[in-house]
Amino acid sequence: MHDGSGRILVQGLHKSFGPIEAVHNLNFSVEPGSVTGFLGPNGSGKTTTLRMILGLIRPTSGTAYVNGQPFSRLPNPATVVGAVLDSQGFHSGQTARTHLRCYVAALNLPDQQADRVLELVGLSSAATRKTGGFSLGMRQRLALATALLGDPGILILDEPANGLDPEGIAWLRGFLKSFASTGRTVLVSSHLLREMEHTVDNVVIVSRGRCVYNGDLEQLRAGQHSRVFTRVSDPAALVTLLNQEGMTAEYLPDGRLVIPGTDSGRVADLALRAGVAVQEMQDENLDLEQIFFQLTSGQYTGAAPTGPAHPPTADPWAPSGHPGPGGHPPGLGQGYQRTSEQYRYGQDDNGGHGGNV
Ligand SMILES: Nc1ncnc2c1ncn2[C@@H]1O[C@H](COP(=O)(O)OP(=O)(O)O)[C@@H](O)[C@H]1O
Ligand SMILES: [Mg+2]
Repeated sequence: MHDGSGRILVQGLHKSFGPIEAVHNLNFSVEPGSVTGFLGPNGSGKTTTLRMILGLIRPTSGTAYVNGQPFSRLPNPATVVGAVLDSQGFHSGQTARTHLRCYVAALNLPDQQADRVLELVGLSSAATRKTGGFSLGMRQRLALATALLGDPGILILDEPANGLDPEGIAWLRGFLKSFASTGRTVLVSSHLLREMEHTVDNVVIVSRGRCVYNGDLEQLRAGQHSRVFTRVSDPAALVTLLNQEGMTAEYLPDGRLVIPGTDSGRVADLALRAGVAVQEMQDENLDLEQIFFQLTSGQYTGAAPTGPAHPPTADPWAPSGHPGPGGHPPGLGQGYQRTSEQYRYGQDDNGGHGGNV
């Protein structure tokens, strides 16, 4: 039944295009009263997922619900969901107002609704201008205005910040926050976390069609704030103890270990317990952008012209690469799902996270 909850629920969603698995077993919910960012690099399956939520393509398996129903069964869907997947499809000879009036007529809405939504998106002064001369930012606003015509309780926007200048992004942020503050639901995708960092409350992060984090943005920020680079006399002994403590470590090609989700004090204690001498130890605090990069860095592993991720397997130091008994690094929330690519670290020393090695 149409439950009016304003929730979007995605359950076990898969989509394959022939051999390409665009979306793999996605599960998440988007709650009313908040802005949820759907984040991931290009090609990670965001648009495909949004299209499935909106009933534009059929999932290979799984279901997406809007207000407790598949989109295709919603009565008057334009009054339930406003969506913008593509802001390019305007007839260039029409003005902003006549473009909107076509939809107003189709949706059986009063004529003045066109001007109302133009005002909402700050385009009133361009009402009589032809859309052919619109900048990308104005197109984004007009597309948003179109989505708002039915006064929906849910907004779904695919990369709405693309092409917006900083002022446009600030405006969008304010708009989405105030939309959500009235108890409505916003799901907004982006390939740039930085663009959305101050806009979203919750995030669903995808990489190669898979969810790698689903939860509170602040928890993500607080959860895995640091990692330690260290060189010790007997790395294998330290790795064994780290694994026993539910922690993971990876080797860098220069022989150092990198240990995520901890700090040098804890690693020094463990080194002492393992009876190994510490030759070098460095803390590194990750900012949100670095965490995002780290979570999604497996996306292009296959294409990267780089060497192996681990030392040769004959190397007795080689760690398993699997998470310890905890299953996920300490400090990360429930929603966290680890991918095997996540702890491959770059050799570059500008932050040490430049890619896979
Ligand atoms: N209609 C399609 N036919 C074949 N492959 C597709 C189609 N749509 C998307 N894909 C592929 O699915 C993957 C995810 O694409 P997409 O959902 O557009 O990612 P994103 O929106 O995150 O950039 C990509 O590898 C893309 O090439
Ligand atoms: Mg896309």
